[in-house]
Amino acid sequence: MENWERRGEELLEFIDKSPSAFHAAANLEEMLEKREYRRLREEEDWEICPGGRYYVTRNDSSIIAFALPELENALIRGFHIAAAHSDSPSFKIKEKPEVVSEKYVRLNVEKYGGPLVQTWLDRALSAAGRAAYLREGNVMTKLVNIDRDLLVIPNLAIHMAGKEQEYNIQTDLLPLYGEEGGKNAFQDCVAEAAGIEKEALLAWDLFLYVREKGKRIGGNGEYILSPRLDDLQCAFAAMTAMAESDPASYINLCAVFDNEEVGSGTRQGADSTFLEDVLVRIREGLGQTDAWLRQRIAGSLLISADNAHGVHPAHPEKSDPANRPCLNGGIVLKYHGGQKYTTDAVTAAQLKLLCGRAQVPLQTYTNRSDMAGGSTLGNISVRHVSVPSVDIGLPQLAMHSAVETAGAKDTDYAVRLFRVFYEG
Ligand code: CO
Repeated sequence: MENWERRGEELLEFIDKSPSAFHAAANLEEMLEKREYRRLREEEDWEICPGGRYYVTRNDSSIIAFALPELENALIRGFHIAAAHSDSPSFKIKEKPEVVSEKYVRLNVEKYGGPLVQTWLDRALSAAGRAAYLREGNVMTKLVNIDRDLLVIPNLAIHMAGKEQEYNIQTDLLPLYGEEGGKNAFQDCVAEAAGIEKEALLAWDLFLYVREKGKRIGGNGEYILSPRLDDLQCAFAAMTAMAESDPASYINLCAVFDNEEVGSGTRQGADSTFLEDVLVRIREGLGQTDAWLRQRIAGSLLISADNAHGVHPAHPEKSDPANRPCLNGGIVLKYHGGQKYTTDAVTAAQLKLLCGRAQVPLQTYTNRSDMAGGSTLGNISVRHVSVPSVDIGLPQLAMHSAVETAGAKDTDYAVRLFRVFYEG
């Protein structure tokens, strides 16, 4: 098996066991533990030393890993930071989840981020996230994955709907759970999946996910079709490289933030103090001054990695006439005149050099000039820690669909790029 094929399989396995941001963070944690990264807790003092490898989580859904070179502090040149996100568009299950109509019980949900809603219909779904429960007077949390085909959001037959259907989230998109009067209330189902007593269950953060596993497709297996490629493909690639690399003269750091799909403005999102807090605590742990940290930040680089739009085979006119990324064409360097992407000439040049050194292909992306694009993490994160930054991604189709399509070779390109970044 070739290297890119092995990376591709590892990615699909990672995505399959990460049905929610909480699971993604837990699986990244496991990847780090295997490479002797030690857990630090925000509630405790940190003891860190040269050559050490550490990680810290916030809200169980965002995670920052860092590794220190074996160097005197004066010789540390700065930080090599990669950022990606752990969440994906979905539907969040509300309190009082059961809504009865006719003989049916449906679950009451609201949108999380901007899913392409029509792609979520007529396929097996389930729910995953975390539960908060009571144990000996304390609030505890546990990951929950109701690991079976459980729900469906049924479409309206074409004979009843007419040609063009518009979907109202509250009326059209509540998933069917079962028959009225059935034995198992949804709460029972959650408590059972979490392995806790029903009476102890206090609250949850639960999201729908599609049950379909990621797979290779295409005449020569050149594509992958999978849920949550945005942005678990980049999160996986960056953290894999982080775990496999030894730092040289920079402190390596990989941040995977939750809540990008809803604007990042949470305690654990990119628009929080999480990254800044970690940098300050690294400085304190090394016994260094504010000035030392500021000098290092000025000499650092942040690579913000979030998937990019490949040219669509049916709608090539939606892309810029010259900057046209294709699946399997390698890393996508993103530019935006309005600075939604942080890339500038200097950081673009650095990224081009890194891709050259890693021997991975590079392509460029800009929106069509008459089209507004999406936004991402980089320009939000640099408001808190103003580090030189560049925005990249891997090319994909059908962003925010229940299942997305990407190139089978591109994950390996990203791992190779991040390895060169972290080892240089
Ligand atoms: Co994204």
